[in-house]
Amino acid sequence: MSAVTLKREGEIGLFLVNNPPVNALSHGVREGLQDCLTEALEDDAIKAIVIACEGRTFIAGADIREFGQPPKEPHLTDVIESIEAATKPVIAAIHGTALGGGLEVALACHFRLAVPSAKVGLPEVKLGLLPGAGGTQRLPRLAGVETALQMIVSGEPLPAPKAHEAGIVDEVAEAEDPVAAGIEFARKVVSENREIRRLSGLPPVVTDPAVFDQFEKAIAHRARGFLAPFHCIKAVRAAAELPFSEGIERERELFVELLLSPQAAAQQHVFFAERQVARVPGLPKDTPTREINTAGIIGAGTMGGGIAMCFANAGIPVTIVEAKQDALDRGIETIRSNYARTVDKGRLSREQMEQRMGLITPSLKMEDLSSVDIVIEAVFEAMDIKKDVFGRLDEICKEGAILATNTSTLDVNEIASATKRPQDVMGMHFFSPANVMKLLENVRGDRTADDVVATVMALSKKIGKVGVLVGVCDGFVGNRMLAPRGREAAFLVEEGALPQQVDKVLYDFGFPMGPFAMADLAGLDVGYRIRKAREATRDPNLRDSTWLDKIVEMDRLGQKTGAGVYRYEDGRTPIPDPEIEQLIVAHSKEIGMERRDISDEEILERCLYAMINEGAKILEEGIAARSLDIDIVWIYGYGFPVYRGGPMFYADQVGLDKVLAGIEKYRRRFGDDFWTPSPLLERLVKEGKGFGSL
Ligand code: 3HC
Ligand code: NAI
Repeated sequence: MSAVTLKREGEIGLFLVNNPPVNALSHGVREGLQDCLTEALEDDAIKAIVIACEGRTFIAGADIREFGQPPKEPHLTDVIESIEAATKPVIAAIHGTALGGGLEVALACHFRLAVPSAKVGLPEVKLGLLPGAGGTQRLPRLAGVETALQMIVSGEPLPAPKAHEAGIVDEVAEAEDPVAAGIEFARKVVSENREIRRLSGLPPVVTDPAVFDQFEKAIAHRARGFLAPFHCIKAVRAAAELPFSEGIERERELFVELLLSPQAAAQQHVFFAERQVARVPGLPKDTPTREINTAGIIGAGTMGGGIAMCFANAGIPVTIVEAKQDALDRGIETIRSNYARTVDKGRLSREQMEQRMGLITPSLKMEDLSSVDIVIEAVFEAMDIKKDVFGRLDEICKEGAILATNTSTLDVNEIASATKRPQDVMGMHFFSPANVMKLLENVRGDRTADDVVATVMALSKKIGKVGVLVGVCDGFVGNRMLAPRGREAAFLVEEGALPQQVDKVLYDFGFPMGPFAMADLAGLDVGYRIRKAREATRDPNLRDSTWLDKIVEMDRLGQKTGAGVYRYEDGRTPIPDPEIEQLIVAHSKEIGMERRDISDEEILERCLYAMINEGAKILEEGIAARSLDIDIVWIYGYGFPVYRGGPMFYADQVGLDKVLAGIEKYRRRFGDDFWTPSPLLERLVKEGKGFGSL
């Protein structure tokens, strides 16, 4: 069946696009639009044309899957030009989302009509691109430079009423049927003999050039490291300075630069990876799920409170159980003040806050969890306590309830062994603050049932998280890879770098902050406690770094005590501290390390290659099913720069042969203990493949 059909509705020619799921502008659609246009223009009985779509949405953009392939005629820009040049009025009838190339098609039409629930936007920037089919030249001519900048640089869509106010759509229909409304509108255009308006015929938009500089400044922090937002500004600037035909050429130049950039490849990888993580290999699509209408949380501390908020935010009633009244009161008060802050910022109404608080029931009795559909345990990180809690849950909870643990380091299988229903037990590793961080590592135990996995994966989305399925191991995916990065960062400092140098290298790479600023934020005592707990079982022959422990022993725990690796005058901004520099230099001397100059390149390689090697081991062991799962964990949990696509995608872009050569170089220098390459990495290099091929 053709992707676009022409139907005659009296004197109106109706083009119906049908290319599920989102009517992307694949080759067939472009060809179909072109053919229908030729036919409609030749047919004297047709006085006006309506372009509308079947299915859930108007055209949602170019077909992203075609980007890597050789372009096939007709090109989108040619189709768009033909539509605009049409000698009969063409009307876009929009429902769902007119995005990217979809909105660009609509902008080439002479009139635009939208149903009330529709949205229009140019989200190319999120894929590392800019609107490359005239959007950067037509939108400013239609809606003004400021609206165009706002939409194109943020990528955020506008709802139909707002788009109408901005002049982007001529009319918002009364009902939700785009075809009926489009035809009615077209008949009006014909009967009123309305003049065709071609946006390309309008002169450049007069604008004070300072607007562009100001806009660039305003996004400088948010868009740090990204190429596309700045190219978007340049393209819109061309609409203000150049005639249409030259502006279009400039748009094309900038678009092609982005299209060929590693950033666009990375951001498109992330777009698809975000959708792929929800599909668990080996778990059939039709796996049944259990109904989750009520939840229970155990522990109202840092994590329990945040997790309870996630459920309340999703409208799911949640009972939160604590051991002691004062801890319960404190926990509920923290939740209330978190909501109150959101109300103060105007992002939540007082009624909504009360509604959400009303969904949270405090309790001191675990028996109150007897009828809930899922329990998430967030008590202290100690195996004996967790096993005791799970033993009791086994007695209390109804059959079929899912029993989850938020442990960050403990063995989920051992926790499950405290119950007679290990098939119902799973890890749900939230990140702090749990009500804010999007990542959820869902940990599958050896005996977890398929329907439990499917339910928890679906539930993740419902409570606003990106759920990634991982297996049981120390630190799961994220923290397990964080450990070697932290280790190398600490070694580098005792070998000669300073914390601020290490942090700057990783910040410049694109992380929101470096490892030491992050450690200060999380609290240095967290890592300290873990290191001390493992001291007894540590191999004494392995190199270890203890200078951070010395800082903790000075009661400098990080931001919360006003000083840690750095000093904090305003409570938030790290300031390098000469006292710590002295401590580090003295420490190097004490361990007999002659300090040397360390290059930024060595810092980056050692921190990142150590992580990538660990990621390869994680893949090899099946802890993560695909490299894209690891990428999403790092992007959503640790702020890995989106424009680098995640650690494993980044490794593929660097070239695995180069990564392996780097690892071998450090192995020669530092020995096998930490630098033995993963056999998987070696095999992939031998086969000339990347992680993405797995
Ligand atoms: N090209 C190819 N496939 C696309 C696509 C596109 N533009 N947009 C969505 N898809 C696919 C998704 O990958 C997904 O496939 P899957 O089922 O195999 O995983 C399927 O369509 C459904 O997508 P979602 O799961 O995201 O469905 P939602 O209903 O949640 O969202 C949407 C729909 C709002 C349209 C969302 O998919 C979206 O934001 N898509 C991207 C839109 C976009 O970025 N357009 C600009 C493209 S670039 C461009 O136009 C360049 C031009 O200027 C030259
Ligand atoms: P926390 O110390 O802030 O809170 C734990 C709470 O559990 C306390 O309020 C305590 O009174 C309560 N509690 C202890 N035993 C209980 C019992 N038997 N019944 C009911 N309540 C009990 O600890 P936090 O930070 O919230 O950690 C909880 C869990 O989440 C741990 O397993 C931790 O490893 C994990 N986690 C913590 C993260 C963090 O950044 N804090 C991140 C991810 C996971």
